[in-house]
Amino acid sequence: MAYLKIFRYDPSGGVEPHFQRYELPPEKGMTILEALFWILENEDSSLAFRCSCREAVCGSCAVHINGEYRLACKTQVDPLGEEITVRPLTHLPILKDLVVDMKPFFDQYEKIKPYLIPREEPPESKEHYQSVKDRKKIDSLVDCILCGACYGSCPVAMGDPDYLGPHALLKALRFVQDSRDGAKTERLAMVATEHGVFRCHTIFNCQKVCPKDLDPTGAIAKLKMKSVGFKIKSMFGFARSAG
Ligand code: SF4
Ligand code: FES
Repeated sequence: MAYLKIFRYDPSGGVEPHFQRYELPPEKGMTILEALFWILENEDSSLAFRCSCREAVCGSCAVHINGEYRLACKTQVDPLGEEITVRPLTHLPILKDLVVDMKPFFDQYEKIKPYLIPREEPPESKEHYQSVKDRKKIDSLVDCILCGACYGSCPVAMGDPDYLGPHALLKALRFVQDSRDGAKTERLAMVATEHGVFRCHTIFNCQKVCPKDLDPTGAIAKLKMKSVGFKIKSMFGFARSAG
């Protein structure tokens, strides 16, 4: 028999933060998301949680389950033991129960201009050609589903609300390394700040929790190296023009 111990809180409805315990029916292969739906449909229709695709693609169901940030739709109940604790993502305002306001997360994301700024006008076909070799350079960076697990697990994001965050920095590297992008210098200037790559303390939490097996810590380390090169170049450029 398994139980879910779920964080409940309704700031607008006067419900103080507390944990509520629900017994689950024995069902082989049940995921945490299915368990939340079972509770919603059979025990408590006031429970709030977020989901969409139910197949680890949209990123909307990320929560804290038994001490780790995971996707509820990708995590099975059985291996987690008898009592499973489910909490919302941290560092983000709670709207209700497991639903957080993702605005601060996406505000940081937007700062790094997460879209292609083309190096040149598209050819007549209206497609920016990229060779297989160049595509390989961003293979390990394109799969982010913006679930927020890395952000929730990052202690730096907790201490600095202006920190860009592992999700935004990983995406910044994705465009810096894209052969079709023409804003590499601008992007490195965006991330080479006290609230960017140099705020990261290389704690590896983001790498550990990413449900898509991406490596934001490694991406940040690469951006640090590229940013140092960029800073040195701009210092010499300044020295030359000043001299
Ligand atoms: S890098 Fe991984 S953990 Fe972070 S938002 Fe993207 S998919 Fe989620
Ligand atoms: S519901 Fe889309 S990732 Fe879980």
